[in-house]
Amino acid sequence: MKTRDATAADIDFLANAFLRAMRPYITAARGSWDQVKEDRQFREQLHLSSTRIILDEGNSVGFYMTHDEGHDLELHTLCIVPEYQTPRLGHGSRPANYRPGSEVQTRRCAFSSQGKSRCTFALSTARICRHQRDRSPLPDEARMKSPPVRPAAKDPDRMSIKVANRFHEANRRRWDAGSASWARRADTRGIWKRSHLDPSLALDSAELKWLNDVAGKSVAVLGSGDNQVVFALAGLGAKVTSIDISEHQIEVARSRAALLGLQVNFVRSDVIDLSSLADATFDVVYTGGYVAPWVSDLRRYYGEAGRILKPGGLLIVSEYHPFRRVWKRSPSSLELRSNYFDRGPYRFEAAPDVLYHAPGELEQFEFHWTVADYITAILASGCQLIHAEEFGDAVKDWEDAPMAGLPRSLLLVGRRDG
Ligand SMILES: C[S@@+](CC[C@H](N)C(=O)[O-])C[C@H]1O[C@@H](n2cnc3c(N)ncnc32)[C@H](O)[C@@H]1O
Repeated sequence: MKTRDATAADIDFLANAFLRAMRPYITAARGSWDQVKEDRQFREQLHLSSTRIILDEGNSVGFYMTHDEGHDLELHTLCIVPEYQTPRLGHGSRPANYRPGSEVQTRRCAFSSQGKSRCTFALSTARICRHQRDRSPLPDEARMKSPPVRPAAKDPDRMSIKVANRFHEANRRRWDAGSASWARRADTRGIWKRSHLDPSLALDSAELKWLNDVAGKSVAVLGSGDNQVVFALAGLGAKVTSIDISEHQIEVARSRAALLGLQVNFVRSDVIDLSSLADATFDVVYTGGYVAPWVSDLRRYYGEAGRILKPGGLLIVSEYHPFRRVWKRSPSSLELRSNYFDRGPYRFEAAPDVLYHAPGELEQFEFHWTVADYITAILASGCQLIHAEEFGDAVKDWEDAPMAGLPRSLLLVGRRDG
C-alpha cells in the first residue's frame, strides 16, 4: 500500500465535497445554501485535519468522521466517489470498496454547540493510501446479504443468558454498548419520567384502545428498551414483566423503575427463546417500537409470545412500519435503498450511538420484515388476528428521508386461541 501526504488540491477537493455533502444540513441551519457557501466566516471555520484519506485506483475517496457527542451537527461517513458524481453521506458501515482489514482512521469532527452554523473539521495531516479497486457496494448500499459473521466469543459473565443465534449475540453486545447513549437520549426526552402518570406519552391512542383495561393483569413487554411503555403500563395498574436481551438496557430500566417507585419484573432474555417464562402466563404481550428489525426470526419471536399468552390473551404488535425502512438517506427525495422484499440480514459496523449509526467497531445485524411477514408470523403463533391498523404520518427528527404521508406504525392485534 502506497501512502502520500494530502496535497492542497486534495484538501480543497475534500473541503468542497464536504460543503456539498453538508448542504442540506447547513441550509436547514442557516438559511439559503448560496449564502452559506459564500460565507467566508463559515469557510474559514472549515478546517480539515488528521483524517486519513483513502484513495483507490479509480480515484474514489472516502473519509470518515464521527460526531462529538453534545454538538449539534453530526457527520457520519462521507464517501466521495467520482463515478457516482455525488458525495454520499452514509452511515452505519465503512465503505465496502476498501479491502477488508485496510486501515481506515476514524476521527472526530467537532461542531459548535452554540449554533448549527459553525463547525470545525479538519484535514491538515492527511495521508493518501492507494488501494486496488474492489467493486463492492458503496456505503449506502453496504448492507451485506451474506455477511462474514464471526463466531461469537465466549464471555463467561454473559453466559447466564441463552442467546438464540449469532446475529442476536452481536446485537446483544451492540445494545449493551449503546445503552448509555440510548439512556441519555431518553433522559433528554424525559418521557420515561412521566409515562406512568400519562400513558399517552408512550402509547398512541390506537394502542391504548387495547390497553386501557390492563389494571391487575399480567403483561409482558418484549424488547422493552427504554421501558417507556413498561412504565406506562405499570401506571395503568398492570403487573408488568419487562424483557430485553441487553443486560445494560435492563440495568438502566431497573434503576429508573426504582426511582419512580414502580414494581416491574425484569427478565433478560432473547425474544426468540423465552424458555425462562412458563406457558400461558400473561394476559397481554406487547411488543414493538422497533424491536422486530433486530430479530432474525419473526415466527419464533411471535411464536414465543403466543406460547406465554393465556388462552384468550392479547398479542399486541406495534412496529415501525416497514414502508419506512427502504429509503435512501435524503433530505428531499424518496429513492429506494433496498428492495422491500429483501429481508437481510443487513450488517453494520457501528459506533455505540445506536440512532446515528456512526461507523465503528460494533457489529450489528438488522432485518426487514414485510407487512405480510408480520401478519403470517402472528397467525402462526396460535393467535387469531383480530385487528390491524396503520397510524402516524409525520416524520420524526431521527428519520432521514422525507417520508411524511407514509404510515409510521403498523399495529396488529392477535387473540390467543382458547
Ligand atoms: C429500539 S429499542 C425498542 C424498544 C423501545 N421502543 C425503545 O425505543 O427503547 C430495541 C430494544 O430491543 C432489544 N432487543 C434487540 N434484539 C433483541 C432480542 N433478540 N431479544 C430481546 N430484546 C432485543 C434491544 O436490547 C433494545 O433494548
